[in-house]
Amino acid sequence: MAHDDNTADKNAAERDAAREKTGEGTAARDAARTFTVEVERLLAEAAAAMSAAADASSLESARIEFLGAKSGRLKAVQKLLGQLGAADKPAGGRRFNELKQALAACFEAAEARLAGAARGLPPIDVTLPGVARRLGRHHPITLTIRRVQQIMGRLGFESVEGPEVEDQWHNFDALAIPPEHPARDPLDNFYLAVAKGHSPLLLRSQTSTVQIRVMEARKPPLRIISLGRVYRPDTADATHYPMFHQVEGLCVERGTTMAHLKSVLRFFASSFLGGDVHVRFRPSFFPFTEPSVEVDMEWGGRWVEMGGAGMVDPAVLAAVGYDPEQVSGFAFGLGVERIAARRHGVADIRDFYRNDVRFLEQFR
Ligand code: DAH
Repeated sequence: MAHDDNTADKNAAERDAAREKTGEGTAARDAARTFTVEVERLLAEAAAAMSAAADASSLESARIEFLGAKSGRLKAVQKLLGQLGAADKPAGGRRFNELKQALAACFEAAEARLAGAARGLPPIDVTLPGVARRLGRHHPITLTIRRVQQIMGRLGFESVEGPEVEDQWHNFDALAIPPEHPARDPLDNFYLAVAKGHSPLLLRSQTSTVQIRVMEARKPPLRIISLGRVYRPDTADATHYPMFHQVEGLCVERGTTMAHLKSVLRFFASSFLGGDVHVRFRPSFFPFTEPSVEVDMEWGGRWVEMGGAGMVDPAVLAAVGYDPEQVSGFAFGLGVERIAARRHGVADIRDFYRNDVRFLEQFR
């Protein structure tokens, strides 16, 4: 409470004069002095006690001591107010009200401080640096998918998506995988329980399904890649997991050859891994390509199998209504975990799925 000393002195002088007039003498002057001293003392002590209160119960003791209805010290000061002479009453009353308000404010401030502490909030110190938020990161598989999309985009391959729950046609039939083929075995696929009379659905076992979906919907020429999850009931080990990701690539144009396939894969491999990469084809078999190859990549002195590829079988082109006399295509399917593990030197693909942030936060 700020006082203008001159005004205070002047008011005090006026009150002295008034006391003379009303015949109130020394006793009244002493009472006024005592009142003023007690008001100041009470305010200082109450403010100190309340702001020092470390918990609710010590604040409550302070409240009772100073503001208590029966024998609080504020009551005592109120009694002193009653003993003031007529000349001092008006100013004393105002001062007393100010005191009451100041004490209430001290009490509320202390209460708010303790409530904040109870909620775990530190007392606010605006000069402290802010609390930095912990930023998340993209998962290494997501980072790999984006990188593949970016590299293939430079060659004009558009990234498309297909459903993870597939039907027999897209997962097998249209890819020239006949009904008796072992790849359709219920032990090698996650078939879904469907109502009787409905043809079985399954979690797709390969992203080659998307080749069919895109060719059914569009006319050639086309260049697409599709990256996503596939599912196989494999026992998890360092190189297998019942859910993993594949990159599917498909290019159908007039005059496409194996040479295009190999150039695209070599461009991809050296862009993705960086530096000197060799790509090797080994003869293989896939029902939907002819010829078919396994794709190996050599990087840092080590050959690693990355997936399969080949020229799209004319029967597949015919199944989606393309004319194999007019267009030809190549296709490839690579394991996303495999290429990510190779690039980053990860020995066990299960690490990608353990959700250990100490592992995951290393990738960028
Ligand atoms: N879908 C095959 C698999 O999961 C990989 C594959 C092989 C994809 C040859 C292709 C391909 O597009 O041409 O094993």
